[in-house]
Amino acid sequence: MPSAQTLFHTQEVTIAPLTPVVDRNFVDDVLTGLALPQKQLQAKYFYDQQGSDYFDQICQLPEYYPYQTELNLLPRVASDLADSFSSDCTIVEFGAGSLVKIKPLLSTISNIRQFIPIDISGIHLEMACQQLQTDYPKLAVKPVVADFCFPVDLPALDHQQKIGFFPGSTIGNFCPAQAARFLENARCTLGPDSCLLIGVDTKKSPSYLHRAYNDADGITARFNRNILTRINRELGANFNPENFEHYAFYNAGQGRIEMHLVSTEQQVVDVFGSAVAFAAGESIHTENSYKYTPDEFCQLAQSAGWQVERSWLAEQDLFATYLLRNRC
Ligand code: AVI
Repeated sequence: MPSAQTLFHTQEVTIAPLTPVVDRNFVDDVLTGLALPQKQLQAKYFYDQQGSDYFDQICQLPEYYPYQTELNLLPRVASDLADSFSSDCTIVEFGAGSLVKIKPLLSTISNIRQFIPIDISGIHLEMACQQLQTDYPKLAVKPVVADFCFPVDLPALDHQQKIGFFPGSTIGNFCPAQAARFLENARCTLGPDSCLLIGVDTKKSPSYLHRAYNDADGITARFNRNILTRINRELGANFNPENFEHYAFYNAGQGRIEMHLVSTEQQVVDVFGSAVAFAAGESIHTENSYKYTPDEFCQLAQSAGWQVERSWLAEQDLFATYLLRNRC
């Protein structure tokens, strides 16, 4: 019986150990944020696969009213806008995610010929688009993988009117200056004669808000702590997430829910080779979620070159949708 050696010409190959690719921006943002007097992490880093799954679970919670309230409002918005746009218009969704909220618009507003969802996660977007294309076979679906916080180059559009769509009150996760910058960039992306349909959470009783960000099942707490698990996995840190407590409260002066992770003990954590010290009770500020009165939001939109053309308030004024028109 010939040996394997004689049958196959074997050669010794040295395989270098695989070095995981580290996202330099992620490293810099985390180290910079953790070096601030009030430690901070940017909320956009919540959304790895596990974080996105937790967020989907949050949307199904009875306490988290924004998701279902907006979903119930959108059919009314869509039927009011059914004939409002020029023929062959294009709808552009910022931060498209799972493409659930676009459906009432696609089913009701005539003249939408093309849909351009923009999302930073290519895999997620691709899968959601395939399903949408099956449901709306005549619609031209042209996904763009990009960070929608910056102006985005859209595929050639033959000068069609563009309608932006930014649901979910994601604008609330920007501070007012960042929100104004997003709105200006969206005007650049959408061009002249464009509109933007945007979902915005309203100011309401602090106890109602408190419940929404402190659910009984602790899903929001898991969502919050998962950012540490992600930093451990992707940046080789050694956080023990159990040593950090979820803390969310309404800061009335700032008009925002703040989420924090509070260190339960004095501890030192290694993050990408840097030692980060925590006192007992010291927090990492992980998210802001700004709430706007109609007047405050109109002012913000106007400062960024948009005119509020129409607005819809959900039952008990729990949530608002605005139709903005590009003034330039
Ligand atoms: C995505 N964003 C609008 C949510 C919010 O309400 O600010 C994220 C969230 N954080 C905790 N619960 C939900």
